Parts: sequence; C-alpha cells; structure tokens
Amino acid sequence: MTDTTPGPGSVALITGGTGGFGRALAATLRGRGVTAVLADLDSDRARATAADLGCPFVALDVTDRAANRAVVEQVEGEHGRLDAVFLNAGIAGSTSDQLLDMDSFLRVVDVDLFGVVYGAEAAIPALQRAGGGAIVVTASLAGLSPMATDPGYSVAKGGVVAFVRSMAPRLAGAGITITAICPGFADTAIIDPIRAQFEQAGFPVLTAQEVADAMLAAWASGEPGAAYVVQPGVGAVPYRFKGVPSAKTAAGETAVVPEALRPPSMG
Ligand SMILES: NC(=O)c1ccc[n+]([C@@H]2O[C@H](COP(=O)([O-])OP(=O)(O)OC[C@H]3O[C@@H](n4cnc5c(N)ncnc54)[C@H](O)[C@@H]3O)[C@@H](O)[C@H]2O)c1
Repeated sequence: MTDTTPGPGSVALITGGTGGFGRALAATLRGRGVTAVLADLDSDRARATAADLGCPFVALDVTDRAANRAVVEQVEGEHGRLDAVFLNAGIAGSTSDQLLDMDSFLRVVDVDLFGVVYGAEAAIPALQRAGGGAIVVTASLAGLSPMATDPGYSVAKGGVVAFVRSMAPRLAGAGITITAICPGFADTAIIDPIRAQFEQAGFPVLTAQEVADAMLAAWASGEPGAAYVVQPGVGAVPYRFKGVPSAKTAAGETAVVPEALRPPSMG
C-alpha cells in the first residue's frame, strides 16, 4: 500500500513555486516538515522568495520539456526521492480586444497546458521509484466554465482537466494519484490587472491559503481524476461531470465500449 501522507521525510516539487499559490503551499508544507522544492523562472525575486521560505530553489521554464526532466533528476539527486509534484506554474492570456490574439493563445497554451504535460512526463518515473505519489495540477474554474475574455487560458485549463481525467486510471494503476484544482479568482499577482474591478463590484476572491489547503488535501486524500472546485464561501468540492449519452445498439440497448478502449482500471 502506497503511503502518500505528506509529512517529515517526504519531498514535493512545486512549479510556479514562488508565486501566490506556490508560496502559500510551500509554507504549509514546510509547517508539516515536508521538503518543498520551488521551481520557477529564474530571477532574484524568485530566489529571494524561496530563501525567505526556507525552501530549495530550482530554475525552470516549464515550457522546456528537457528542463522538466532535469529538474526532477536534480530533486531526486539532492533529496533522495519525489513524493508529490504540484504542476502549478501558469500565466493568464491576453486582455487585448482582438477577436483572436493568436500569439497570446499559443503562449498561454504552451505554459499552462504543455507545461503541465511535460511536468507530468518528467515526474511519473520518479514518483514510481518512490513507491507511488501524487500529481496535483492547478487548473482553474476557467477549465470547467470557459472565460469569454480569455480563450487561450480557457483552452489550456480545459485541456489540463481533460489530461488529468484521461491519465487518472492508468496512473492509479501505477500507485500515482492525479487530480486537478479549479479555483475561482484568488488574490495573487495574476489578477493584478483586474483586481480593482473585483473590489469595486464587491466580488469575493479567494485567499491563496484557501487554495493551498485544497492542494494539500488533494495530495493527502484526492480521488484519482477529480477536479476540485474552490470558491469563496464554498471550500473545495469535487466537480460532478455530467457524462455524455451512451451509444445504443440496433436493439435499443446501451452499447458496451470495446475492451481495448476501456481505461486500465476498468479492466
Ligand atoms: N489567482 C487566481 O485567480 C487563479 C485562479 C485559478 C487558477 N489559477 C492558476 O494558479 C496557478 C498559480 O497562479 P497564481 O495565482 O499563484 O499566480 P502568480 O502569478 O502569483 O504565480 C504564477 C507563477 O508561475 C510562474 N511561471 C509563469 N510562467 C512560468 C514558466 N514558463 N515556467 C515556470 N514558472 C512560470 C511565475 O513566475 C509565478 O511565480 C496558475 O496556473 C494560475 O493559472 C490562478
């Protein structure tokens, strides 16, 4: 039985680790005795933030596939194991009034979707070597309810929710739990351009700590493939996907999906 309990001796990697959610999670993990390695774009600010939190820092651009693998190797080399990875780095898309800002679209999909896929690819063998573990992806409410103001972000976050749900059964078979966190608007730097509008409208935003608590809970007790909505006044609740209509046979009975197309855990 895999023990994924976060505690002393366990090692976690957080991408975007010196941003708003990353910092709150790092402090929470440190409080539990977990070694939290913070990966982020290299800057004096990022290095100083990690040092203030008492966490090791590694420079990483998540859009660099090979660099994701190198960082995981470095973490295993320096800390002996990897128990959980929080694929949390992200950017917002364009606020321009173009109908479709293609440069912004491609950039946000590269960071917010491919950055997650590369991170998972890199972490899976290390988590297996640790005897199992957790991958927690920071998606967004925009992945469940697309934002008309930001198509690239909506596609990227919808994509990571689909990635998590698609990967969950095969990873569960390998002792790895993958989950998504889907926060509403939260008080971090990413909402700087629109913060005043929330304040003027009296619209509640989450604290970074509320999201960090949901991220920790997803590691400790997340259900494979779950997408946890986090909203002010609601807490973290698993989103209930509606499903799609099944095919019917000519006789009007529900058609059974061919065995080869069923996910591993469904047998
Ligand atoms: N704050 C919100 O309202 C909100 C809501 C839902 C989801 N999210 C998601 O939460 C995650 C964390 O965001 P946050 O709110 O803490 O914002 P933030 O801007 O404070 O943190 C984001 C971090 O990601 C890092 N980053 C950006 N591009 C990177 C790259 N290419 N490689 C490595 N690191 C990179 C940044 O340097 C920063 O430290 C993001 O994926 C974001 O989309 C945020």
